[in-house]
Amino acid sequence: MSHTVDEIVFPSHFAWGASTAAYQIEGAWNADGKGSSIWDTFCHAKGKIFEDQNGDVACDSYHLWEEDLKCIQQLGLSHYRLSFSWSRLLPDGTTQHVNPKGVAYYNKVIDSLLANNITPMVTLYHNDLPQALQDIGGWKSLEIADVFDSYAKFCFETFGDRVKLWLTLNEPYVCAKLGHEDGIFAPGLKEPGVSVYLTGHNMLRAHAKAWHSYHTHFRQAQKGLVSLTLNSDWAEPLDPNSPEDVAATERYMAFILGWFANPIFLTGDYPEIMRSRIDAFSKETGYSEGPRLPKFSPDDPAVLGTADFFALNYFTSRKVKAPASSPRKLSFKNDQGAEEVLDPSWPICGVSWLAVVPDGLRKLLKYIKDTYKSPTVYITENGFSQMGPVEMEDMKRCVYYRDTLHEISKAMREDGVDVRGYFVWSLMDNFEWVDGFGVRFGLFHVDFSRPELTRTMYRSGREYAAIISNHRSRHKPTQTGR
Ligand code: BGC
Repeated sequence: MSHTVDEIVFPSHFAWGASTAAYQIEGAWNADGKGSSIWDTFCHAKGKIFEDQNGDVACDSYHLWEEDLKCIQQLGLSHYRLSFSWSRLLPDGTTQHVNPKGVAYYNKVIDSLLANNITPMVTLYHNDLPQALQDIGGWKSLEIADVFDSYAKFCFETFGDRVKLWLTLNEPYVCAKLGHEDGIFAPGLKEPGVSVYLTGHNMLRAHAKAWHSYHTHFRQAQKGLVSLTLNSDWAEPLDPNSPEDVAATERYMAFILGWFANPIFLTGDYPEIMRSRIDAFSKETGYSEGPRLPKFSPDDPAVLGTADFFALNYFTSRKVKAPASSPRKLSFKNDQGAEEVLDPSWPICGVSWLAVVPDGLRKLLKYIKDTYKSPTVYITENGFSQMGPVEMEDMKRCVYYRDTLHEISKAMREDGVDVRGYFVWSLMDNFEWVDGFGVRFGLFHVDFSRPELTRTMYRSGREYAAIISNHRSRHKPTQTGR
């Protein structure tokens, strides 16, 4: 049964947000001195994206920022999460060449958010590596961590007087796995079982360096917080009475969430189960070019403790069973040794991977609290997609948001999880990576068939606005004294 808006009560300081990412909305891919990113290159090569679409124009937010701002205001958001396009700021990825027009664009965005009482949360990297850096090895090269750190310091210096919530990287799992193992995301590398761990490792090193830079050089003056977003499904054993399925589920979670969360929040190192599985499989298959899962070097700054809050992207859940057999072939999946099953009782919304499981989020939040020592949590992405004929009266999405918010409130009140904010993915329909414009996640519809790229609120946008406005009236300061 779905819940009514009025049942949902959140603390007064709760952050109400929506998220976007530069490549998915900005367009203007080569305007005003912007350098190319790996997503420009990837989309321009044919056969990678639904109908060979690309983000050259997308929602054209680079030119239509004022329209986006109106959407944000109509929703009444307290927070807006955006990402910077690295190659718009630093066309070749290095601080040797700064693009003043890129700086001016993000200054305009940040200043107008603040002028309207909306807190920006900025992601420094959301999938779009400058192509110039890919050309010298990208995330596979050891040096990338220092180059990222310089970019991060440049951003802290330039925007940190006003931006107080930073995310270094969005979903390192997705960048490493989809971009370097499966090859379905830029840079499109298919190097199973090897590059995935190397890129994940360099992303962790890059994040840790940037966090330490902030902590040492900026925190005292700027008083902000820095983290990174981690994506995770919630997983449950297909047969809870099968020890094999239970073990496979633990591996599933370790290889998605633990891979990045254990080093940062728990131990400073990868989950033991990853290390032992990967090393054993290397031995079995005769792989002898050093450990596929790299080791943290004492020469690098410690990764443990490098997050000031837990930023979680949650979309869906899975049932998991132990695979019947394990082929003797190097791959992330074989290392993980867990087979995903979709529970037939879970409805699918839009894209095939997105099973609708709001209560999976509550369980995941509890798991994070129990596993990672009760961190404060921001849910930095959560959403529901539609495909095919557009439904402006998107009732199913409305129900999804209500149910999800209800689960979050239960996680807070009944399980004691310290959730500080919730960001819908996404503010508006945008370029959904390999699915192009065929999959819509927005609270606003964008008419991609018209040059104006008109934004129109879906019913779910109206409902989200009503939830936020109810929250505000509930917490309106009461008149004291006379
Ligand atoms: C990503 C977004 C993406 C969304 C829906 C998240 O994993 O951060 O960029 O659009 O999922 O697929």
